[in-house]
Amino acid sequence: MVVSSAPGKVYLFGEHAVVYGEPAVPCAIERRARVTVEARDDDSLRVHAEDLSLDGFTVEYSDGSDDDPDVDVSESLVDAAMGYIDAAVEQARDAANAPDAGFDITIESEIPLGAGLGSSAAVTTAGIHAATRELGVELPTEEVAERAYQAELEVQGGDASRADTFCSATGGAVRVEGDDCRAIEAPDLPFVIGFDGGAGDTGRLVAGVRALREEYDFAADTVESIGDVVRYGEQVLAEGDIEELGRLMNFNHGLLEALGVSSRSLDQMVWAARDAGALGSKLTGAGGGGCIVALDPTDSTETALDYTPGCEDAFRAELDTDGVRVEE
Ligand code: MEV
Repeated sequence: MVVSSAPGKVYLFGEHAVVYGEPAVPCAIERRARVTVEARDDDSLRVHAEDLSLDGFTVEYSDGSDDDPDVDVSESLVDAAMGYIDAAVEQARDAANAPDAGFDITIESEIPLGAGLGSSAAVTTAGIHAATRELGVELPTEEVAERAYQAELEVQGGDASRADTFCSATGGAVRVEGDDCRAIEAPDLPFVIGFDGGAGDTGRLVAGVRALREEYDFAADTVESIGDVVRYGEQVLAEGDIEELGRLMNFNHGLLEALGVSSRSLDQMVWAARDAGALGSKLTGAGGGGCIVALDPTDSTETALDYTPGCEDAFRAELDTDGVRVEE
C-alpha cells in the first residue's frame, strides 16, 4: 500500500491567460489531497472518496455499487473527480507497463472541489505518484507532472495548461509559460482564502473566454494584458514588494472580471477583503464561484470574510514548499 499527497494551489497571477501561452504564477498551499493505493489481484478499480467537498462524502464505483445515499455534493463534481482518478490510473498503468493492474483507491482531500484551489490537479498528481510506486516504479517529479497534465488534458477535452499539475507536483511558487515550467523564489506570502461554498465549471469557463477572445479583439487584448501583469508581477515578486503585488492582484481581478469569469459572491469577497485592508485580492482558478485569494499579513481580512454574505469559509494558507510526496 502506498499513500501519496499533493498540495492545492492559488494563482497569484495569470489563470485563463495561461491557456493561450501567457505566463502564470501559481503557488502551492498547505492544503493537500491524499491518495491511498493498494494493488488488487484482479484488474478492477474501487474508489472510496472522503472529504472532497469539505463536508465529506463517500462514493464507491466500478464494481457496480451505487453512490452512497448521503452524497452531499453535486454528482457532476463527484463524476469529475472520478474522471481524474480514472485518467490517473491509466497514466500509472502506462508508466509501469501494467495495463491490467487493478487498485483499491481512497481519496481524502482538504481542498474543496472545483473551487479554484487545484483539487483535481492535486488528486491526479497524488494518484499517479501512489499508483506507480505501488507498482514498483519511482517516476521523477517532472514525469509525474507531465503525466498529470496529460490526464487533465484528457478529462478537460484538450483545454488545460500545465500550471495546476506542475505546481502540485513540485510545490512552491512556479512560473508557467506554455511548456516552460520552473520553480521561482518567493517571499513569505500572507495568503488569506475566502470560499463561497460553490464551484465553477472549468471547461465551460475556459470555453467562454475562448469564445470572447475569438469574437472581440479587445477581449484578446485583455488576455494579453493579463500576461503583461504577470511579466511585471514576476519582477515585483523577485523584489519581495508585497504591497505592489497586492495592487497587481487587484488589476488581475479586474481583467478576469472583464472576461466574465467572476461572480457576485467572488466580487463580494474580493471587495470585503479590500475594505478590510488587504493589500490586494482576486479570484483564483477558473472562477464562476469558489475561492478568492487575498494578501494580508494581519487578521483583518479573515475576520471580515467570516462576516461577508456569500462567504462560507475563510482561512489563512501558507505557501507549501513540498510538492507530491509519500506520506509515512
Ligand atoms: C484552472 O485552475 C486554471 C485555468 O487557467 C485553466 C488551466 O490553466 O488549465 C482556468
